[in-house]
Amino acid sequence: MPATVLVGMQWGDEGKAKVLDALADETDIVVRYQGGANAGHTVVVGKERYAFHLVPSGILRDNKVCVIANGCVVDPIELVKEINELRTRGVKIDSTNLQLSDRAQLVMPYHRLVDQLSEKKKETSGAGKIGTTGRGIGPAYVDKVARSGIRVIDVLRPSYLVDRVRQRLTELNPVLIAVYGHEPLDANKIADEVLAAAQPLKAFIADTAAFINDALAHGRRLLFEGAQGSLLDIDHGTYPYVTSSNATAGGAATGSGVSPKRIDTALGVAKAYTTRVGAGPFPTELKDAQGDAIRERGGEFGTTTGRPRRCGWFDAVGVSYAAEVSGVDAIALTKLDVLTGEKELQLCTRYKVEGRELTRFPADIHAVELAQPVYESMPGWKESLEEIRQYEKLPKAARDYVERIEKLVGIPVRYIGVGKSRDALIEKK
Ligand code: GDP
Ligand code: IMO
Ligand code: MG
Repeated sequence: MPATVLVGMQWGDEGKAKVLDALADETDIVVRYQGGANAGHTVVVGKERYAFHLVPSGILRDNKVCVIANGCVVDPIELVKEINELRTRGVKIDSTNLQLSDRAQLVMPYHRLVDQLSEKKKETSGAGKIGTTGRGIGPAYVDKVARSGIRVIDVLRPSYLVDRVRQRLTELNPVLIAVYGHEPLDANKIADEVLAAAQPLKAFIADTAAFINDALAHGRRLLFEGAQGSLLDIDHGTYPYVTSSNATAGGAATGSGVSPKRIDTALGVAKAYTTRVGAGPFPTELKDAQGDAIRERGGEFGTTTGRPRRCGWFDAVGVSYAAEVSGVDAIALTKLDVLTGEKELQLCTRYKVEGRELTRFPADIHAVELAQPVYESMPGWKESLEEIRQYEKLPKAARDYVERIEKLVGIPVRYIGVGKSRDALIEKK
């Protein structure tokens, strides 16, 4: 697998980082290609728990180069904080193992501000908020597409950066005053703050597309670390309740400057049930004590914001759609251990929407909201799975559940997560 992309198949937090960490031994370079510090990627090593936001989780492994590629939006203040925190915990980070794309977009302080003000406005105006992470992600991508963004490379030309901030604020300040009742922002102050924050990042700035393509030409192996999940993808997700980037496999090509021809494998990560943070439709959501119990057992609280995650049954309609959009070759099914103790498990095989049966995930957000899941029941198991490392040793009911998911989605399950820790992963041959 010279180049593999790892994508979330639900609404994020599928356990991507844990799977990536387990596979990192088989790779040389780990690339984040979209999103920003909205991501929260957890790796548990012994008693230590690491939560990554922008730094690729491969940084924990020796002799890997980690890349934050052009498709990402980078908050320099947050990134420096994250690097420093990791360093104080003994993680080695320098220009030999971390690169930051010169073409990546900066998340500016006003992006964060607008994200938070806009969410508040949506809530009070009755429009309903998205429930963003408040990290400025949407506004930063808006500016990128509107060609008003500021890129990492601009940090190396301070006078140009100041001009760009000034131009942007010429348009933004009247909006801040009129729409949000906020005081206008000072361009020089913001530019100074960003330039000062970005100072320690200069050492990491590189033409990462050139680096990655050269590495591929020399037979080095790549792992693309997707953030968020397919159903949060700006094009393919439950729009408008999505993030602002392409979390599906296609994003890895545009987000890193690598031809799609070079990416040979897509590994999809899906939880053995489903979670979602923030607003938006979730057909298999359990709004009852059973959902609460799964949240408690699974520790389903946001890695980035600490918000409780909404929990529900596995949705084969959503996961099959994600498999198609990203061309998923194999699935890593995580958190199977969390289902231990459930008497009966439900798998959603299709939706009923206004009298019609759907097996394909609909574009119409109202249809997803109205969707009544049609379930297939399976018996649960009581045994703890955490110490099991061989597929054949799993209880029969657990194997049946995994194999039914393979049938419903039409893709083999290659890895099964049975616990938080780094090694709690079964390879299903
Ligand atoms: P990511 O954003 O996809 O990387 O996932 P998060 O880190 O946000 O959330 C996944 C959570 O589940 C983390 O707390 C992981 O430590 C944990 N986790 C991952 N895989 C497993 C698993 O197989 N079993 C259990 N019990 N926990 C897991
Ligand atoms: P990882 O990589 C789960 C959700 C937010 C919100 C929506 C838009 O850890 O899986 P944004 O701040 O991106 O504009 O918020 O997307 N969201 C995530 N949910 N996991 C994530 O990342 C997420 N990143 C964003 O909760 O609903
Ligand atoms: Mg997460």
